[in-house]
Amino acid sequence: MGFDEMDVDTIWMDGEYVDWDDAEIHVLTHGLHYGSGVFEGVRCYDTENGPALFRWEEHLDRLYESAKPYDMEIEFTKADLTEATKELISRQELPSCYVRPIAYYGYNSLGVSPSDCPPRPAIAAWPWGAYLGEDALENGIDVMISSWRKHASSQIPTNAKTTGLYVNSMLAGEEARRNGYAEAIVLNKEGNVAEGPGENVFLVRDDEIYTPGLSESILDGITRDSVIQIAEELGYTVHDDVSISRGELNPADELFFTGSAAEVTPIRKVDNVVIGNGSRGPVTEAIQQRFFDIVEGAPEEYDEWFEYVEM
Ligand SMILES: Cc1ncc(COP(=O)(O)O)c(C=O)c1O
Repeated sequence: MGFDEMDVDTIWMDGEYVDWDDAEIHVLTHGLHYGSGVFEGVRCYDTENGPALFRWEEHLDRLYESAKPYDMEIEFTKADLTEATKELISRQELPSCYVRPIAYYGYNSLGVSPSDCPPRPAIAAWPWGAYLGEDALENGIDVMISSWRKHASSQIPTNAKTTGLYVNSMLAGEEARRNGYAEAIVLNKEGNVAEGPGENVFLVRDDEIYTPGLSESILDGITRDSVIQIAEELGYTVHDDVSISRGELNPADELFFTGSAAEVTPIRKVDNVVIGNGSRGPVTEAIQQRFFDIVEGAPEEYDEWFEYVEM
């Protein structure tokens, strides 16, 4: 669904609430030409205790940390961004939505050095259902191993959520869709499993859970972290600091993706080879169920994962 079909009317830009249609930037904006922006994708869930941003603090921390290697000073505090986000959600009456904070180098000159271009923050919120479709959550998706490799973290900080990095995700995802798959798995420079274009990857084998470590050129996913905690709470052993070779994917009992957008999405085939029983496996289902119970119920034991929004 396009933005024009959504009931949204306000965007926060540089400290001001502006009409959605007026949230425009100059065509010579540095971030547009060089991908010099950092961003986040956060879900607000309509929990039993009211609308709440899921793991907002961790997303904010990652936004500011992503800005660091680019010497970008976001001239608003985390409290300012929190207030603006809550205001956007309540003004637009969006109890359940996706929130996109971004900060990018703005307009002034077009040398590659952004030093005289002002960093410009903005936040938008809009309704967004299941990223890969409702059916994907239940029945899983078919993925292909992309022919594109992920950037090495020695080439670009892969743990920073930088706008420019997402052309790699776009190439991998579109290649997959062009070939009839729903999504891609991207290998790192060494040829091991890194992640999806916008998701982390988990593998289940003999009831133990494996996910590529942070040195495998992945984004340190916040859903990844949530799922590791959930899996451990459910009694599973999680190996979160491993390399996973491409060859380990096909014989896996189960595979699944995690991400703020993708939530917990089972993978049923890789390159047309059936994984496990070819549908959502029992470990994936248990973790997915607990994940949705938590984000919908906001239970007391996970209270620190929720930032409530007054409507
Ligand atoms: C490349 C990449 N990996 C992993 C993830 C999952 O991260 P998170 O769970 O923090 O959304 C995302 C989504 O933000 C992503 O873009």
